Amino acid sequence: MDQQGQYGTDGTFVVQSGNRLEGEVSISGAKNSVLKIMAATTLAQGRFVISNVPRISDVTYMAELLVAVGSDVHWSGANELTIVTPEELTPIAPYHLVKQIRASISLLGPLLARCGEASVALPGGDDFGPRPIDMHLQALEQLGAEIEVSHGVVMAKAANLIGTRVVLEFPSVGATENILMAALRAKGETTIENAAREPEIADLASCLSQMGASISGAGTSTLTVEGGNELHPVERAVIADRIEASTFLTALGVAGGEIMLRNARLDHVDMIARKLGEMDMRISPSSEGLWAMCDRRLRATDISTLPYPGIPTDMKPLLVALLAFADGVGIVTENLFAGRFRYVDELVRMGADIRTEGQHAIVRGKESLSGAPVEGHDIRATAALLVAGLGAEGTTEVSGAQHIDRGYEKIDEKLRGLGADVSRKL
Ligand code: UD1
Repeated sequence: MDQQGQYGTDGTFVVQSGNRLEGEVSISGAKNSVLKIMAATTLAQGRFVISNVPRISDVTYMAELLVAVGSDVHWSGANELTIVTPEELTPIAPYHLVKQIRASISLLGPLLARCGEASVALPGGDDFGPRPIDMHLQALEQLGAEIEVSHGVVMAKAANLIGTRVVLEFPSVGATENILMAALRAKGETTIENAAREPEIADLASCLSQMGASISGAGTSTLTVEGGNELHPVERAVIADRIEASTFLTALGVAGGEIMLRNARLDHVDMIARKLGEMDMRISPSSEGLWAMCDRRLRATDISTLPYPGIPTDMKPLLVALLAFADGVGIVTENLFAGRFRYVDELVRMGADIRTEGQHAIVRGKESLSGAPVEGHDIRATAALLVAGLGAEGTTEVSGAQHIDRGYEKIDEKLRGLGADVSRKL
């Protein structure tokens, strides 16, 4: 799997402020959807063709994992992946690959279902805090799997899985997806209550249904799966990335202008659009996607992250960056991941007035920030610094470009296409 030149390598974005954003940008396929669909290909033997796949490094890492278990994966078009799943798989996801991408835990459920056993190295923490998987493991045990965690590896075994009622303590995206895929091979009916409702889960469930699964309630908090159906490979396209679309909306909020987000769906960014509307951005759906305009300094507002349909936790750094320029004081409350505030120190170095208190960030907006060298440590935090650079006087150099490459396809090129002055250097 190629990495497309400098993408995926260390690098720095150089941003000059002052340009408004004008024009159209195509939103790529959703990272958090394609990774799970790729994991789901292990469930059925044969040739899958997945289109609208973003060229991001997380896709490359997931492809390497699929190759490690025995699949053949190659690009068959600019944004199309062909995956051929063999009859026999080696259900082992080794640490040197898992540590690159925490979504590799999504292989646990499907590999267990397909092979009766799976061994996946523990994904470990993220820059913004621990990523526990206790709910994934408890639910798989409820389905009849024997789980052992030792030497940093989760080993799951189940000669037979039996359908059951699983009630999640919290609507975890990853746990919902793992249980959903494992339940496809369970005897009888499985219900998942308090399931996560993210559009990427609905997309995965729709893919699994197309593969022959019986699933109802996708996109609601109760999912019902009738196990045991024969599954077959499919051809399908990935939904547009709502986080990428929302990222461009925050860029617009900082730089001002008028843009069209091709392929973006208002129903997937509803709560963000409402918040930005409260702040005075104009957003409306069109036949091609989403139109948005920002012709004034935005007003501050308070924001809390919540599971979908709430404001996504992934958007928090971007919204904090946006509020750093808004008129007034906004309080941002994080309800999902404990320590997701490391980028704040970098924004403060750019002159932002932000104080953090536990899970809250209190942001006093300023008319402008000042460009500085800053460093991002995860995908969204690095994107937030890039967005802040669009409104900071002078030059902002954002190092950590390789984090952005994990989740955004050519963000610098896309921003340049809208008129921003953004370049990339090694
Ligand atoms: C997914 C997304 C990530 C997003 C997150 C929340 C992917 C690849 N990643 O991550 O971008 O930020 O959803 O929308 O799809 N938890 C537990 N025990 C568990 C599982 C989760 O305590 O077994 C907690 C987590 O610590 C966190 C919360 O539940 O506080 C939500 O996590 P979860 O929805 O599972 O996130 P991910 O699936 O890891």
